[in-house]
Amino acid sequence: MASISIIYASTSGHTEYVTQILSDALKEAGHAATVTRCEKATAEDLAKGDLVILACGTWNADGAEGQLNPYMKMFLDRAKDIDLSAKTLAIVGLGDERYRYTGRCIEHLQKFRMAKKAAQLLPPLLIVNDPYGQEERVRGWAKKVSEALSAKK
Ligand SMILES: Cc1cc2nc3c(=O)[nH]c(=O)nc-3n(C[C@H](O)[C@H](O)[C@H](O)COP(=O)(O)O)c2cc1C
Repeated sequence: MASISIIYASTSGHTEYVTQILSDALKEAGHAATVTRCEKATAEDLAKGDLVILACGTWNADGAEGQLNPYMKMFLDRAKDIDLSAKTLAIVGLGDERYRYTGRCIEHLQKFRMAKKAAQLLPPLLIVNDPYGQEERVRGWAKKVSEALSAKK
């Protein structure tokens, strides 16, 4: 059993929906999973547990599309001084195909992970368009998270 912390930002509720499915699936697999909105999370929360999953949608900021959800950006800025070099992270990103830079939040989350020299447990989960109806993809990814955690032991 692993201790997994999911930290997310969600403005219209899509990422929140995905993280609930993810957390339920990870708990069903026997893990201890917590879900925290990044507005309430501290930088130290990134260093807790066996795995941290960062999740958010892609937004426009300062007039440019393809950016991080602004609350996730603020959270990662708050965490700029924390040492994550011994940590393993996983990433969930959402986007919409009506935008040119579809799902680019994943690129920004990966840049953060790499700058922090944190390991990646498995390739990110990208959810394009409304998550409703994509529940099986989320559960499938949760299964891969479990498998990757078992292989890591
Ligand atoms: C103002 C705004 C800007 C957005 N910009 C992008 C974008 O640049 N690229 C993209 O793929 N999706 C973009 N989206 C779509 C969201 O990423 C998508 O709807 C996501 O599921 C929202 O997740 P959330 O409700 O958890 O915040 C944008 C949505 C809004 C409302």
